[in-house]
Amino acid sequence: MHYHELEASIYDKVYAGTTEDIPFWTGFARETCGNDGHALELACGTLRVLLPVAEAGTRVTGIDESPYMLDLANKKLAAASCAARERVTLLQGDMRSFDLPERFNLIYVPFNSFGLLLTVEDQLAALASVKKHLALGGLFAFVVFFPDVERLHGPDLSRWQLEMDHSFGDGSRIQRDLVREVDTRSQITSIQWRNKEYQDQVLVREWITDLKLTYFWPREIEHLMTRAGFQIVHYWGDLQRTDFYSMSETWKQIVVARANA
Ligand SMILES: C[S@@+](CC[C@H](N)C(=O)[O-])C[C@H]1O[C@@H](n2cnc3c(N)ncnc32)[C@H](O)[C@@H]1O
Repeated sequence: MHYHELEASIYDKVYAGTTEDIPFWTGFARETCGNDGHALELACGTLRVLLPVAEAGTRVTGIDESPYMLDLANKKLAAASCAARERVTLLQGDMRSFDLPERFNLIYVPFNSFGLLLTVEDQLAALASVKKHLALGGLFAFVVFFPDVERLHGPDLSRWQLEMDHSFGDGSRIQRDLVREVDTRSQITSIQWRNKEYQDQVLVREWITDLKLTYFWPREIEHLMTRAGFQIVHYWGDLQRTDFYSMSETWKQIVVARANA
């Protein structure tokens, strides 16, 4: 499990500025689910995306493996509007092996979380679970980053770099340095963060977080999806839905697929 208590406790602060994908997911969920459909977010975390999706009118279930992230998610949900609360169901589970009675019009995995699946076996297990839970004609969508060849091989990766140093209104300050190691054979990036948390200028905690993330090449995604019994219907390179292959430069791969009959 990747997201323990300390990581969960700072997640919303670290990603407070990450909002650019929210209109994409709220709009896409509304379009795909209409008024009566049902969406499922895998690896929903603290509801950064899921809550806006529900607030915009879509009924949505969220699954996450981390009880710490879900605890924060439930607290956030308790403070949400009654209408949004009624549209949300949260469950602890693993995206590789969930088993629910519902079938969904949209299953989606935002913000690189599909990359948390580190082996082809795990990726296929998750895709099999997705396939089983899609309603007839339902869509599966996920976003992973498009690897930057220069950065993958860049010499600066193995040196600590400041990633964020931000003060918040509650008197806290979070400072994070990161270092990365890329294994180009397994296509796994191992990231280490050195976190420092201050309250009123006093250092209250310092800890290291480890995370491993798979990076994917486009043709590999095409093969993976075909092998798992999906047909890719859109391959976008940005949140404005520009065709990936028409773009000269991009750092996102947004894959939308339908399960084969
Ligand atoms: C980067 S966070 C993304 C949270 C949220 N979707 C967002 O966009 O802010 C990744 C989440 O994936 C969850 N996670 C990792 N592996 C998982 C798995 N196998 N099944 C379910 N959740 C998983 C973690 O607990 C964490 O909450």
